[in-house]
Amino acid sequence: MTVRPLRFNAFIWPNGYHESAWRVVGDDVHGVLGLDYYAEIARIAERGLMDAIFLADNIAIAEYRVTYLPQTQFDPIAVLSALAAVTSRIGLIGTGSTTYSKPWDLARRFATLDHLSGGRAGWNIVTTVTPLAAGNFGERGHLGHDDRYARAHEFVEVVQRCWDSWADDAVVGDRDRGVWADRARLGAPHFHGRFHDVEGVLPFPRSPQGHPVLVQAGQSPAGLGLAARYAELVFSGPGSLDAGVAFRADLRARVTAAGRDPEQVSVLPALMVTLGGTEAEATAKARRLEELASDEFRWQNALYTAGFDPDGFDPDKPFPAELRDGQAPSSRAQRLFAAAHARPEAPLREILRGLDGGAGQLHFVGTPEQLAEQIITWQDAGGADGFTIMGSTLPYELEAFTDHVVPLLQRRGRYRTEYRGRTLRENLGLPRPAVG
Ligand SMILES: Cc1cc2nc3c(=O)[nH]c(=O)nc-3n(C[C@H](O)[C@H](O)[C@H](O)COP(=O)(O)O)c2cc1C
Repeated sequence: MTVRPLRFNAFIWPNGYHESAWRVVGDDVHGVLGLDYYAEIARIAERGLMDAIFLADNIAIAEYRVTYLPQTQFDPIAVLSALAAVTSRIGLIGTGSTTYSKPWDLARRFATLDHLSGGRAGWNIVTTVTPLAAGNFGERGHLGHDDRYARAHEFVEVVQRCWDSWADDAVVGDRDRGVWADRARLGAPHFHGRFHDVEGVLPFPRSPQGHPVLVQAGQSPAGLGLAARYAELVFSGPGSLDAGVAFRADLRARVTAAGRDPEQVSVLPALMVTLGGTEAEATAKARRLEELASDEFRWQNALYTAGFDPDGFDPDKPFPAELRDGQAPSSRAQRLFAAAHARPEAPLREILRGLDGGAGQLHFVGTPEQLAEQIITWQDAGGADGFTIMGSTLPYELEAFTDHVVPLLQRRGRYRTEYRGRTLRENLGLPRPAVG
């Protein structure tokens, strides 16, 4: 059987993805604010021949978070630009909001990263769940779920037009005639839509990949619609193998219906990993992380990641009925509303216990052999094209993955033994888009 090589994406998070990671790693607590921290993780991921490293973006933090978690939400493009200088092959995926950015500006920033990295940029398209972002960007209110996604569709269209505003051969560099670029090879967007107006060309030529790789992580029908139309990598958070298989099949059907080839879309479920030389060792590490976890953090975080400001809620009272009956701000909020409907008198704290506050990811705890087996099982069942690996502690779990899981997958013929290409598109086997 010929199988496509697995894809891996390393999720970078301060000290690791588990909320207690910073309390167990033993590094200087300020280390996560310096470039060395990110550079070390990027180098480990590149040594593991991973397709990409990934930086999330939160453009408003609810203040409860500063108590419980290291807060290091730098501008992803700034961090990835620095990492471009200390890596040479790995993809650099950053998050950018379609609700709180301007398309020309975002197109310029990701195309800059694509140039500086020699074609390794990717854009995780998000619509931003938290209403707190509105206050930071001088907006009176936060757009509703459907409007955010409608805006996102138009936003991506305009961004692509900006990326295509120079033909690939526009730069002629004719010193004798004194012509650096051929003005006739420009094509300004002149776009006037429902949400956006963009006139002019980008202030530099087309980037190595033409379009940075497009990534999407929304799980609602509207989110899947956006992914089906544009995404080349999709991050998901299925809670089981069955859910993963159903999600991928649904997405692939939507991609086909949108007139695209599902083979050009990779689904990389988020997976938190805790590895040990023995199962007992891994279990002890995971238990220690859970022992340090805080119930107070968890209920607030579940609300925040569902799109609410936890400061406005009393955890010992039921979830407010008037909110519960309104429009859900996210797919996660929809699950919360359903749970609150089922138990209208139950205190919010209890309702939220069933809802996690991360990316919805599973937590793998075990040995490298067991993880390699699980990854292959998911691939063979059609639940994944690879994974977004979240080390519960970093860089330790990523190092263990690179040194102990990668060789097993290589031996099984499931994973590359060297980078094939120079650009992220080449490594993912994706075509370079022609000017549209
Ligand atoms: C692996 C993963 C990573 C994500 N990263 C971000 C992020 O960096 N910033 C953000 O605002 N949302 C992020 N999200 C949230 C989604 O982009 C999306 O906004 C959220 O799921 C709500 O949309 P939905 O209602 O369509 O599911 C992430 C989700 C997943 C599963």
